[in-house]
Amino acid sequence: MALPPPPLLPFLINLFMILLLASTPTASTTVCHDTCGSIQIKYPFGTGPGCGSPLFNPYITCISNGTLDQLILKTHTSSYPITSISYTTSTLILTPPCMSTCTTMQTSSNFGLDLTSPFQISSSTFILLSCQRKSSTICDTSFDYLCASIYSCPEVVSLGLPLFPPTNTCCVYTPGNLDGEGELNVKGYDCGGYTSVVSLGDNPTDPTHWVYGVALKYTHGAFDNFVTTKCTSCESSGGICGFAPPGNGFVCVCKGGYNTSLDCSSYNQNQDFLWDSVPPPLKSSLGNVWSPILAGIILSLV
Ligand SMILES: *[C@@H]1O[C@H](CO)[C@@H](O)[C@H](O)[C@H]1NC(C)=O
Ligand SMILES: *[C@@H]1O[C@H](CO)[C@@H](O)[C@H](O)[C@H]1NC(C)=O
Repeated sequence: MALPPPPLLPFLINLFMILLLASTPTASTTVCHDTCGSIQIKYPFGTGPGCGSPLFNPYITCISNGTLDQLILKTHTSSYPITSISYTTSTLILTPPCMSTCTTMQTSSNFGLDLTSPFQISSSTFILLSCQRKSSTICDTSFDYLCASIYSCPEVVSLGLPLFPPTNTCCVYTPGNLDGEGELNVKGYDCGGYTSVVSLGDNPTDPTHWVYGVALKYTHGAFDNFVTTKCTSCESSGGICGFAPPGNGFVCVCKGGYNTSLDCSSYNQNQDFLWDSVPPPLKSSLGNVWSPILAGIILSLV
């Protein structure tokens, strides 16, 4: 008695669908992201290796501490969370974790930037706290009223100071700068901690409403000049600008999981480049599409 033939066609269609879904590029195949936490990431910043500018890449990463992604600037002294970036003014604001504010005061190690990095101090006011002496070279006594303001914060006791301490242990350094090592030498100035103020807000005597942070400006190097035009059209086509070793040449990283040397809308004109250098998703899914069909043909022959 002959058995009816197995329902091979529905089986093949199922397998086909499963493999097609499995090989469809998803967002997770894209290595570069256009946001990190709440910060919009555009060139020259990048979220990981190969993303953004190769000049920025050694210093900038997007890390996840489990709940929250954070953009970090790494320097020889520490890692500093970036709280905002202005692409129009080429500035950013850092909040060093060991910096004091009106609500949290603590002893701090030196703040530092790498001298060879594309980042420099912008207009910030440093206030050195709990100092053994007032350095005559950096302290501007005409700003002592800012010392009186920050010393009105009850948290000063965390620095070992009494409430409303005398302002001769406080030093306003404005505009603040870094020394020859690229550091704000808190220890060298015989101080316990520091705060950095980006803006005094509406009321300079109310330290609870100051904007705390260190403002930096960043510069575009030689790499940027010839890449800027390509990058602008890459970003406006929905791509993310990046670079590829060994020459760190420009690549436009597209959402579909492929890279081009131009922009994401010119994918079709640009296929020669793709087929030569990277396996495009189309090529690999074709391979996957054929294998179940071949398997099916073989099965039906057995
Ligand atoms: C696309 O470029 C990025 C950044 O350089 C790289 O990490 C990724 O591996 C590239 N993807 C492909 C498919 O080559
Ligand atoms: C992650 O970072 C956020 C913001 O800095 C912080 O509030 C939170 O406690 C961190 N979580 C962990 C698990 O470290």
